[in-house]
Amino acid sequence: MRQVTVTEHLLLHQKESPMATGRFTSLLNELILSAKIISREVNKAGLVDVLGLTGEINVQGEAVRKLDEYANSVLIHRMQRAGVLCAIGSEENADLVEIPDHLPKGDYILIFDPLDGSTNIDANVNVGTIFSILKRKEKSECSARLCEVLQKGAEQVAAGYFLYGTSTMMVYTTGRGVHGFTLDPSVGEFLLSHPDIKTPEKGKIYSVNEGYWHYWDEATREVVDYFKNPALNGRGKPYSQRYIGSLVADFHRNLLYGGIFLYPADMQDPKKPKGKLRLMCEASPLAFICREAGGASSDGERDILDIEPSELHERVPLFIGSKKDVAMVEEIYRKHK
Ligand code: AHG
Ligand code: MN
Ligand code: MN
Ligand code: MN
Repeated sequence: MRQVTVTEHLLLHQKESPMATGRFTSLLNELILSAKIISREVNKAGLVDVLGLTGEINVQGEAVRKLDEYANSVLIHRMQRAGVLCAIGSEENADLVEIPDHLPKGDYILIFDPLDGSTNIDANVNVGTIFSILKRKEKSECSARLCEVLQKGAEQVAAGYFLYGTSTMMVYTTGRGVHGFTLDPSVGEFLLSHPDIKTPEKGKIYSVNEGYWHYWDEATREVVDYFKNPALNGRGKPYSQRYIGSLVADFHRNLLYGGIFLYPADMQDPKKPKGKLRLMCEASPLAFICREAGGASSDGERDILDIEPSELHERVPLFIGSKKDVAMVEEIYRKHK
């Protein structure tokens, strides 16, 4: 297949997209450079000192791993110099990241999870980077940067992820389909490998951490049971249970094969009544991709893309993947209301 780069694809195949501009392309290329640098470290993690913990606890209350910190510092350094951003938010930073005064700025807003699935790093299991791109509103009724940043997922102008796995992939959307690119290390380019990804309407895989069964309410137990129960789920056999523990890897597999990822609210931690996953740097970008691929996403009641964030690190229950499977989850929760 002739090699098609990300830039070529954006400019040729999405030329009608308002995103096919030089400024957006340079933002994307800085993200791509960051991912190549992170991929290089991930791929030799056992040989360089990037495994294990830093000893820090982040704003999420999580133990920070060296590769979390490495990926975060690479992305912050590069994106501060992209010259097109007015705000940067990271899962690892409590507040928005400052862009030094002497560096040029622009109207884009970037929110990212620098390393998703980081507890898996030391075991050489797939991890990824998730990004969400918003735009500053011309007439924003507020001057405070954070207020400009807190926009619902439907306002995203682009979203995507990098997956550091058997190969390094980039999957993203600008609202005109979902397109996958695979890094060819011999030329150092991401080349088109999965044009116009569409996800099956009904899946055959469910991904959830069943270890939380005793922290779930009745409705959630009924939801998870639906996918295991051949008499109920319309397949006549159980959905296969697959759970990698890296959201981006579980999401990517379900996107291609069909299926649903579930991270319900649980009563495990009273400080996290809405579960573990973050709205702005995890749920919203994946929800945009999923919708563009013909799938759906929900917090059990509302479309993830319709949820107005009230704070940068807001958490949200997440059900995302094949449209019919997400609809069934909402139907079961409605029954219990
Ligand atoms: P992160 O590494 O960015 O903090 O995200 C980890 C998330 C997500 O990748 C994964 O689906 C989930 O944590 C797994 O959580 P549990 O270990 O509670 O199942
Ligand atoms: Mn984390
Ligand atoms: Mn994450
Ligand atoms: Mn993370």
